[in-house]
Amino acid sequence: MRRRDFLSSSLAAVAVGLAARSARAADSSVEVLVNEPLGTIAPEMQGHFTEHIGSVVYNGIWVGEDSPIPNVGGVRKALVEHMRRLRAPVIRWPGGCFADSYNWRDGIGSRSKRPVRTNFWDNDAQLAHAPAGPQKYDPNTFGTAEFMRFCQLCGAQPYLAANVRSLTPHDFDEWVEYCNSPAGSTTLASTRAQDGSREPFNVTYWGIGNESWGCGGDLRPEEYAVEFRRFTSWVPDYGRALRFIASGPGTSPSDPQVSWTRGFLANLVGTRPDLLDRLYGLSLHYYCGTTGKGNSLQFSTDEWYQMLGQADAMDTLITQHWQAMGEFDRRRQAKLVVDEWGVWHSGTPLGPAYLFSFVPSLRDALVSALTLDIFNRHPEKLAMCNDAQLVNNLNTLFLAMHDRFVPTTIFHVFDMYKSHQGGQAVRMICEASSIPYHVESSAPAGAMETTPVQQTRQFWGLAGSASRQGNTLIVTVVNPHVSDASTAEVRLRGGAAKSVRATVLTAPDIHASNYFDRPDTVVPRDRPTNVSGARFPWTFPAASVTKLEIAL
Ligand code: AHR
Repeated sequence: MRRRDFLSSSLAAVAVGLAARSARAADSSVEVLVNEPLGTIAPEMQGHFTEHIGSVVYNGIWVGEDSPIPNVGGVRKALVEHMRRLRAPVIRWPGGCFADSYNWRDGIGSRSKRPVRTNFWDNDAQLAHAPAGPQKYDPNTFGTAEFMRFCQLCGAQPYLAANVRSLTPHDFDEWVEYCNSPAGSTTLASTRAQDGSREPFNVTYWGIGNESWGCGGDLRPEEYAVEFRRFTSWVPDYGRALRFIASGPGTSPSDPQVSWTRGFLANLVGTRPDLLDRLYGLSLHYYCGTTGKGNSLQFSTDEWYQMLGQADAMDTLITQHWQAMGEFDRRRQAKLVVDEWGVWHSGTPLGPAYLFSFVPSLRDALVSALTLDIFNRHPEKLAMCNDAQLVNNLNTLFLAMHDRFVPTTIFHVFDMYKSHQGGQAVRMICEASSIPYHVESSAPAGAMETTPVQQTRQFWGLAGSASRQGNTLIVTVVNPHVSDASTAEVRLRGGAAKSVRATVLTAPDIHASNYFDRPDTVVPRDRPTNVSGARFPWTFPAASVTKLEIAL
């Protein structure tokens, strides 16, 4: 069949998308090289992050045992149920910036005797308008044992971030002892038993500080390298290989902080290449969106593409830092850990106590989908990635206010993408016409003209990722076009589809969101299919995330 015939017959044959406003000329293709593996998609690449910030912990995760809100030992039951559904692999805690102000000893022992401390984020201007409460003065009700219980309920691994700025390596050793020393062995093991767990928590992942170039101590990379050496030297391991994750760069496309990665590694390794053995991973943070402007639910078409374009910078940032790491780590022992990522909108918090919260829209769902696709395309570089943050915060999967709880648009992306966990990523090539959009940039410094300059940029027309487990192939694709569906030829090189199941997340309005009073506005929907073979046509609806589960 000639290409044009194929495409016109495919347009007739294919059920068009839920939100298809118009169909773009079908010059698109999605080619999956079924037998070209890239690496295993570690389940941890779909990890989470929870900090004592705003209403993530108190009111988000923790409601208390005596609460009328359904709970399991004080932990919000609805949250646990949804995390189990996601097969949540790992959860990072207690920060974030909070981690470098946190004394873990405040959160152990009898809850009624725990001290109330000023929360790190109390300095934030937004909290000035919040009533006194756990967001400002942390009661430490939720401490290490409560976090471990939360992880156990969710079926997730814990990932703890140590305080490097204001505690010592000795304090760190003793936190490891509290968590991991054998039952009945030490005084801290007895305290742990009194806190409800005679058996060790067996924590494997340990972050050595957080954003040590900023809130974690304003250190230079050479200074942080010294701290990393001190904190990871002779930590008690109780026969378990501990995985230390170094505090890495806080990136932006204009300032990727590659100098931090190089400076840290040069000073860590120096004349002691063996110290690489202590480095399981180097963290990397990237938030798209900016504080000070932008709104999660009100944006123009151009701002839709601007946000997606910013999110797409993750790909380059991963590649840049991976290259820099390779200059020092020739055997590729250490991997990247993107332990904070997501959208950062300002201006629409749920309330003063809900610091950094916003209601995610369909746009934020597409940001998450294209980011998870980027991760899937770099499986050999990434050990773990943690969405920031789980509930009531930045790239949030859930909103929770007292007895009200709702999964956001972002939750549904994670729910769709969990099928990639543990799969063998395979190469996928998308081709589609790029989409022009406009950005306004300020005139260069010193220019007389003060009116903003408008630039035209291009955004890709289709992108995604693919993974394989046995005879099941998972293909996820984002169509970013705000109004046009995209009909593509799906080509499987090295395989053929016996059957295809399709799930699509989209909405007629690109600003659509889920909220307590409209929980099902943006939810994935199954699409009927009757395609098969090594090539078949597929229409990706406008502004959508699509998952194809292909039986080979
Ligand atoms: O996620 C919010 C904050 O962003 C974290 O505490 C910090 O690590 C980052 O700057």
